[in-house]
Amino acid sequence: MSLRGLINVRIILSVVFILLIGSVSAVWQARQSVEKEVKSSINLALQMIEFGFAQMPVAHRQGSGWLSQISALQQVRHLQISIAHEGDQAITFTTQQTLDESESLPPSWFVAAVMANYLTERYDIEMADGSHKSILITANPMDEISEAWGESKAFFWSIVAMLWIIFLAVNLVFHSMLRAVKSILAGLHLVESGKYDITLPHFKISEFDAIASEINKMSLALKIAQENNQALARHTMHIQESERRTMSRELHDEMGQSLTAIKAMAVTTKQANVEVPPIADSIIEICNHLAKVVRSMMRTLHPLSLSELGLNATLTDLINEWRRRSPTLSILFHYDEHLDSLDNEVSIHVYRVVQECLTNVVRHSQASEVSVSLDFISNQQLTDRVELNINDNGIGGEVNSQGFGILAMRERVENLGGQFSFKSTKDTGVQVHAWMPFVGKKEHD
Ligand SMILES: Nc1ncnc2c1ncn2[C@@H]1O[C@H](COP(=O)(O)OP(=O)(O)O)[C@@H](O)[C@H]1O
Ligand SMILES: [Mg+2]
Repeated sequence: MSLRGLINVRIILSVVFILLIGSVSAVWQARQSVEKEVKSSINLALQMIEFGFAQMPVAHRQGSGWLSQISALQQVRHLQISIAHEGDQAITFTTQQTLDESESLPPSWFVAAVMANYLTERYDIEMADGSHKSILITANPMDEISEAWGESKAFFWSIVAMLWIIFLAVNLVFHSMLRAVKSILAGLHLVESGKYDITLPHFKISEFDAIASEINKMSLALKIAQENNQALARHTMHIQESERRTMSRELHDEMGQSLTAIKAMAVTTKQANVEVPPIADSIIEICNHLAKVVRSMMRTLHPLSLSELGLNATLTDLINEWRRRSPTLSILFHYDEHLDSLDNEVSIHVYRVVQECLTNVVRHSQASEVSVSLDFISNQQLTDRVELNINDNGIGGEVNSQGFGILAMRERVENLGGQFSFKSTKDTGVQVHAWMPFVGKKEHD
C-alpha cells in the first residue's frame, strides 16, 4: 500500500472514531442539559403554586378567580399543567413553548435518547366549598430537545468541517512530500544506471533537502571514483603497450642480432680450414650477454626472487639497489619476521607499494632520510594485518595530480580490503600509511 493510501485510511478511521465518540458525548450532554432544565422548571412551578395559594385564603377559592393564581405559570417553560377535579373534565394547558414551527423536529431516535423518565408532580388545593382540586405538572421538554438537536447538528458539522480541513492539509503536505520522494527515486535510478552527474534540486522540506544533498555528494564521489578508475585503466593499458614495445625492441635488437651472429659463426665453422676455438669463444661471449639481457627483462616483468628468496630478501635487494644509486639518501628498513609467512600474492603488492614509494622519494622529495617499516599486527577481534609506514623528511607540499603512482597504490591496497593514506606536509615530508589483511602462505607455495 502506498504511503498516501495508508495515511488516508488512518485519517478516515480516526474521523469515524472521533465522530462516534463526539455523537455519544453530544447526546449525553443534551440529555443532561434537558433534564436539568426540566427539573428546574418543575421546581419553579411548584414554588410559584405554593407561594400563590399561601397568599390566598381558602374562602376566596371559588368561581374562576382562583385560576389567576396559576396563570403566571404560563411563563414557565417546558411544562404541561392539568387541573383535575373529581367528576369534572380536567383542564389542561401547556406553558410557554419556544418551538419554532419552521424548525425541523428532531428524529425520534434522538428524542428517545435524550428524553428521561419524568414523574408527574401533583399539588392538591382545598376549595372554599370543601372540595379538592389537583394541579398536575408534567414535563414537556420537546422545545428543549429541539434546541439540543440544533446544537448537536452544529457540533457535528463543525467537527466534519474541521476534519475535512485537516484531511486537506495532510494531503497537501503529502503531495509535496511525494513529489520530493519521486524526484529522489528518479535520481537514485540514474545513479544506479551509472549516470553520476545528477544534481537533485533543493526541497522545501528540510529532511528531504538533507537526503538530496547527501545523494548529490554521493554521486559526485562516485563520479570522481569512476573518472579515476577510467584514467587508471587507460594508464594501465598504456603501460602494457609501452612495455610490449620495449620488449619487442629488445628482442629484436639484442636477441635478433645475437642469434644472427651465432648462426653466421656456426655456418663458418662448417667450412674447411677454419679455426674453431676463437669462433666458439665469440659464441660463448654472445650467449653470456644474452643471458644477462634475459635476466634483466625477467626482473622487470616480475621480481622472481620474491617467490624464491622471500619478501625480506627481495625488499633488502631493492633497498640496497637504491642505496647504491642514491648514496646521499639514508634508507632505514624495519621488517617484522612474522611476515615471512605472508602469501606471495599479497607480498607482490607490498613490494610494489614500497617500490613506488621509494621511487617517489628519490624522484620528488629531496629527502636525506626515509624510513621503511613493515609490521605484522595481530588482532583478536578483526583479521590480522600487514602494516606499512614509509616516511621521508623531504619537501612534501602540493601533490601533482597528473601522476598515477599514488592512485595505483591506493587501488592495490583497497582491492585487497585494506586502507591507504598519503599525507604530504610542506617542508616536513610525506607519510604513507597502509594496511592490508594478513593472508598466510598457501600449502603449495
Ligand atoms: N615523497 C614525496 N615527496 C614529495 N612529493 C611527493 C612524494 N611522493 C609523491 N609526491 C608528489 O605527488 C605527485 C604524485 O605522485 P605519483 O602519483 O607517484 O606520480 P608521479 O610520481 O608519476 O609524479 C608527485 O608528482 C609529487 O608532486
Ligand atoms: Mg610516482
